[in-house]
Amino acid sequence: MLVSGKQILQHAHENGYAVGAFNVNNMEQVQAIIEAAEAMESPVIIQASQGGLKYAGVEYIAEMAKVAAQKASVPVAIHLDHGTDFKQIMLCIRNGFTSVMVDASKHSLEKNIEITKYIVETAHAVGVSVEAELGKIGGTEDDITVDEKDATYTDPDEAERFVKETGVDCLAIAVGTAHGPYKGEPKLDFDRIKVIKEKLNIPLVLHGSSGVPEASIKKAIGLGINKINIDTDIRMAFHKAVKEFIHNNPDEYDPRMILGPSKQAMKQVIAEKMQMFDSVGRAWK
Ligand code: G3H
Ligand code: 13P
Ligand code: ZN
Repeated sequence: MLVSGKQILQHAHENGYAVGAFNVNNMEQVQAIIEAAEAMESPVIIQASQGGLKYAGVEYIAEMAKVAAQKASVPVAIHLDHGTDFKQIMLCIRNGFTSVMVDASKHSLEKNIEITKYIVETAHAVGVSVEAELGKIGGTEDDITVDEKDATYTDPDEAERFVKETGVDCLAIAVGTAHGPYKGEPKLDFDRIKVIKEKLNIPLVLHGSSGVPEASIKKAIGLGINKINIDTDIRMAFHKAVKEFIHNNPDEYDPRMILGPSKQAMKQVIAEKMQMFDSVGRAWK
């Protein structure tokens, strides 16, 4: 069942749980996500980054995700992750994405508002939901000090103005997570999540969620996070399974044999995340 991002996140927002948004680059990942969602009776968001779309082709990703969504009994949204280009966002909408992220977070507040507002007006005109980012969610490889990091966190007052002026459906906030594998343990600014949720009262999004301890994830959900982005943990499950298979079967050359076990491994990780996010059994008809 293909639905908009807003339908999925509004339900999560009203019922106090989070939905996993899992990144895809190929068919095995799409299938792993949808099989896990069906098994867990969980709503789910299939998302692709601009890099993922460049790798596979927007039509391939869109069609695979649409087939998966239409065959599934659970609600599924198809989402563009970190869209920075107007044409790319339009191309995704034209190809049937039901949700897009406009990431203008590298710009000034004024410019971010201007760009996001324009995308919201355009996407909403055709029933597509919009996520935006305020503050800067970098990568774990970004070498910045704690003070610098603090300066990149989302300001609650700016967030309030941002949402009021743009009409965005959900907001990605910078509260201490980063993309990629963590070296130490990430420390989340829970007070900031709480204040932002109270001011905004809309679904909030946590990026860079791979490797964040379960207790922190659960606490963040309790304070108002409703969409949780996971990429790295799926990549790692894929890599481990393929590496093990090739190590144990060095002469096997059939792609189905090599990639089959990785699909199961990714499905397992995704199902565990759904349990952690409390989205199990939340699918509606
Ligand atoms: O937010 C970033 C996602 O993990 C996607 O990464 O641009 O390498 O596809 P990517
Ligand atoms: P991770 O790769 O750290 O899970 O982050 C994913 C993400 O935020 C995609 O937008
Ligand atoms: Zn992200």
